[in-house]
Amino acid sequence: MRGVFITGSDTGVGKTAIGAALAWRLSREGLVVRPRKPVESGCVDREGGAHSGDRETYHAAVDGREPLARIGHYRFRAPLSPERAAALEGRALRLDELVAACREGVDAPDFLLVEGAGGFYSPLTADALNADLAVALGLPVLVVSADRLGAIHQTLLTVEAVIGRGLALAGVVLNQTAPGADPGMDNGADVARWLGRDPLVIRHHDEANGTPAWRAIAPFVTKIAATLAAGSAHEW
Ligand SMILES: Nc1ncnc2c1ncn2[C@@H]1O[C@H](COP(=O)(O)OP(=O)(O)OP(=O)(O)O)[C@@H](O)[C@H]1O
Ligand SMILES: [Mg+2]
Repeated sequence: MRGVFITGSDTGVGKTAIGAALAWRLSREGLVVRPRKPVESGCVDREGGAHSGDRETYHAAVDGREPLARIGHYRFRAPLSPERAAALEGRALRLDELVAACREGVDAPDFLLVEGAGGFYSPLTADALNADLAVALGLPVLVVSADRLGAIHQTLLTVEAVIGRGLALAGVVLNQTAPGADPGMDNGADVARWLGRDPLVIRHHDEANGTPAWRAIAPFVTKIAATLAAGSAHEW
């Protein structure tokens, strides 16, 4: 199955911003994109249940063509790891339930885009880390890191874990979630040197003008989108 598993160096590093940009781009190339955020914690109570920001972003990125209930199946309120947030609501999630939630409604020619929660070794369920879900789905992994001090270490460690799990690396994105980076810092060049490949560096986009970051980022993910659409992530 064509697709990608989006993981991060941490929570809040731009997995959804990059994932939604890719979903939008791939849809424009004519693919049927099925975004999935199978489990999300930190959801806010609203009319009709726990509100998930990530699934609404993906819903918008595919022009509403994928039902919200399929994008984000399991949603919990506590801003903790999904495993703990689920336990606080009396629920013990299992890996096979997340795999089923990811695959539901996905046909062979579709593009399955799955966002994990937290980082590659963050727990998702009582029996699985993000890494285990990526392995169960067998998708190439896109690593998103916040482009800040510490990014080199977090990126290299995550990439090593992805490769160690026998998964294809779809690419590495260094994402400037915050403005005003030290002008002397060049994590893009340093990661490229240690990794032997160029990461994609995404600049900070000011959301104050009303354009969400994912939409501003979309023109810059064309190359990764084309590679993923061709199913040639292993060549990265
Ligand atoms: N390049 C960017 N420029 C400006 N804002 C950004 C950029 N990338 C991400 N953001 C913003 O940073 C915040 C965190 O990003 P995002 O929600 O994509 O992270 P995440 O890794 O998906 O987080 P989570 O672990 O909660 O799923 C969001 O408000 C997002 O709009
Ligand atoms: Mg997210």
